Amino acid sequence: MKKRIVIKLSGRIFGMDNVKILKDYARFLVKISKVCQPVIVAGGGNIARRYINYARSSGADESSLDELGIDISRLNAKLLIYALKHRAYPHPPTTLQEIRNAVDSGVIVVTGGLHPGHSTNGTAALIAEKIQASVFLNATDVDGVYDLDPNKYKGAKMYRRIALKKLRNMLVHKESIAGGYDLMDLLTLKIIERSKIKTRILKADIKTLEKAIKGGPVGTEIIFPKK
Ligand code: UTP
Repeated sequence: MKKRIVIKLSGRIFGMDNVKILKDYARFLVKISKVCQPVIVAGGGNIARRYINYARSSGADESSLDELGIDISRLNAKLLIYALKHRAYPHPPTTLQEIRNAVDSGVIVVTGGLHPGHSTNGTAALIAEKIQASVFLNATDVDGVYDLDPNKYKGAKMYRRIALKKLRNMLVHKESIAGGYDLMDLLTLKIIERSKIKTRILKADIKTLEKAIKGGPVGTEIIFPKK
């Protein structure tokens, strides 16, 4: 059995301002699927945020807004599925069990969010847990986790490795996280922690992802205390 890799792809790559990007990602996924089985979780990105803000201003309740976000992430997933043609499971699965069945069938699986109140990061962690993925790559719009906001502080340093506990503390005291990026939410960290999922936060960029899949030290690796 090929090793399974879960990649959360920031919704920002589905911004529709770069027509080449979907084809590039599709080509990349087909290439890596010779050595591993990728499962992609598409984020909602700016389009989800715009829909959510617009609906919120009309008085929609928060769980309906979550459902709207899930819908948009599934539309983003469909864009990648269409670019992958017959190489992908034909639609975004809607339950963890469906994801596991789709993965067992051996194709590339692309999905969006699953449950209101979660995030696509959390969904990706749950999938990694369910299918016993060898690694969870959280591909976002920053290179990794920084000690300070790199846009504001020249001397900001990126962690090559960060203890899960330290990352949790940074998230709890959100003002200290670089630029308040939504790198991870606490629920996602909890899932990573309980199943000791090998996780890396890295830039959503094909070359960087390729290096990570080969085991290269890109981005920030989350580490666990030794027992
Ligand atoms: P995302 O988790 O993708 O947020 O879902 P994001 O911050 O836009 O992620 P990036 O930037 O693409 O990486 C958008 C919204 O959809 C709802 C939440 O409201 C979330 O903020 N959602 C998503 C859920 O309720 N459950 C899910 O499983 C996924």
